[in-house]
Amino acid sequence: MRAFSTLLFGTLAGLIGHALAAPLIVSPGTASDVVITQENTVNTTEAVSNSTGSSPTQQLKINMVNNFAGSVNAYVTGLDSNDQLVVLQTDGTWLYPNANGASVPQPITGNIALPLGGQGSTTTITLPDYISSGRIWFAANGDLQFFVVESGTGGSSLVEPSSANPHDPSAAVNWGFVELTNTEDDGLFANISYVDFVGLPLGMSLSGGGGLQTAQGLPANAVSSICNDLKAQADSDGQPWHQLCVTDVNGNPLRVIAPSDYSSVNSDAFSNYWTDYINQVWQKYSSQPLTINTQVSAGDVQCTVSDGLLNCNGDNRGYAQPIASDIWGCNSGPFAIEAGDNDVHRAVVPRLCAAFDRSTLLLAGGNTQPGLGSSAYYTVSPTNFYSKFIHQYELDGRGYAFPYDDVNPDGASNASGELSDGTPSSLTVTVGGPSS
Ligand SMILES: *[C@@H]1O[C@H](CO)[C@@H](O)[C@H](O)[C@H]1NC(C)=O
Ligand SMILES: *[C@@H]1O[C@H](CO)[C@@H](O)[C@H](O)[C@H]1NC(C)=O
Ligand SMILES: *[C@@H]1O[C@H](CO)[C@@H](O)[C@H](O)[C@H]1NC(C)=O
Ligand SMILES: *[C@@H]1O[C@H](CO)[C@@H](O)[C@H](O)[C@H]1NC(C)=O
Repeated sequence: MRAFSTLLFGTLAGLIGHALAAPLIVSPGTASDVVITQENTVNTTEAVSNSTGSSPTQQLKINMVNNFAGSVNAYVTGLDSNDQLVVLQTDGTWLYPNANGASVPQPITGNIALPLGGQGSTTTITLPDYISSGRIWFAANGDLQFFVVESGTGGSSLVEPSSANPHDPSAAVNWGFVELTNTEDDGLFANISYVDFVGLPLGMSLSGGGGLQTAQGLPANAVSSICNDLKAQADSDGQPWHQLCVTDVNGNPLRVIAPSDYSSVNSDAFSNYWTDYINQVWQKYSSQPLTINTQVSAGDVQCTVSDGLLNCNGDNRGYAQPIASDIWGCNSGPFAIEAGDNDVHRAVVPRLCAAFDRSTLLLAGGNTQPGLGSSAYYTVSPTNFYSKFIHQYELDGRGYAFPYDDVNPDGASNASGELSDGTPSSLTVTVGGPSS
């Protein structure tokens, strides 16, 4: 394993030279090119034995509708009810991957690719047990590669395909996933998220005691459309938006990665993009208050800039100016939440970061956050164009495009694409765009 920055330096240094000419092109590698991060691993803390899971009182049925014009394989990964790593096999039982102490990622072999029927068909599987930190993966016209490695705490780490690593062994495959956790006590939570990337279009519906719920996701051609919009944006403002578009060597778009993932591999990108805007925000709110509706018991709190910090009443500490990567990821710099932070601080961070991503802080009415409705989001530049374009194509406007995309004015609908039911009966996932 090489460090991510070293790994990518060659590729990116080459690309930066002709920033607007090319998107990011994948070159899939082998096990030694796998990069282990918090985002692509599921860890167990103890050595895994080949025990069988408990018998759940109710087994979850998953219907997989194939609307993709080509072959699709599904994979199910996660932790079983004993917190052991599991991968579903074609015979409907769990495989228990075990690193057996290996410090180099070992490929998980076995019958773990679940082939879907042809276009228009529905394939149904039943999970043998409850599942947490679960994902249902879909790969179009290819296979995904999963690995297992010693986790450092005596347990095993499942290493999953990574959307952020252009050398990941699965990088040239068009794939996507839905996340799910289904426990005896709380039932099923499932979501589609675009916080890290947009890949193979997926939609979901859930039926159970709570009735039918849906999150429609993106249409079949979403990746190409978003790539085109990012290219136009790059041509107009000179920023490397087009490089968020990841293609295979033939130029076919595979996925779009979030600016937070892109700036973690190319820290110079967008570095001055927000500077003037941030200075104007700091200037505005040094002479008038910014009101944050905390939407918790603290209600509205007033914030003003003094001595370079934005300070809010009742907050245990102030906020320094963010930089671009803080705005994309909402979890670093002034947006990093620390153990001692109070409820006001924990309420201000999401609302302030969302206001930056949506660029509503300098608009008329932007002095209350959240306040303006979604028609005011992303209406000025600089803004999070990745999030703007995703929301433009979402069929029902739902699905996170940045980490605090669920922040909304009181009474407005919640933009999260999460579905939940205490007594679920089946989850249906539609692959390759909605059924017409
Ligand atoms: C799993 O463990 C590895 C170290 O062995 C660590 O790098 C990774 O962040 C962990 N993943 C999670 C989700 O905590
Ligand atoms: C679990 O089963 C796999 C495959 O049969 C085997 O390779 C592995 O060594 C077993 N692990 C343990 C801890 O028994
Ligand atoms: C999506 O669901 C998974 C599994 O329940 C959860 O761990 C994750 O935090 C959720 N993500 C979002 C963005 O809601
Ligand atoms: C939006 O819904 C999600 C999923 O139900 C929930 O986790 C989140 O807290 C909600 N956000 C707000 C601001 O209500």
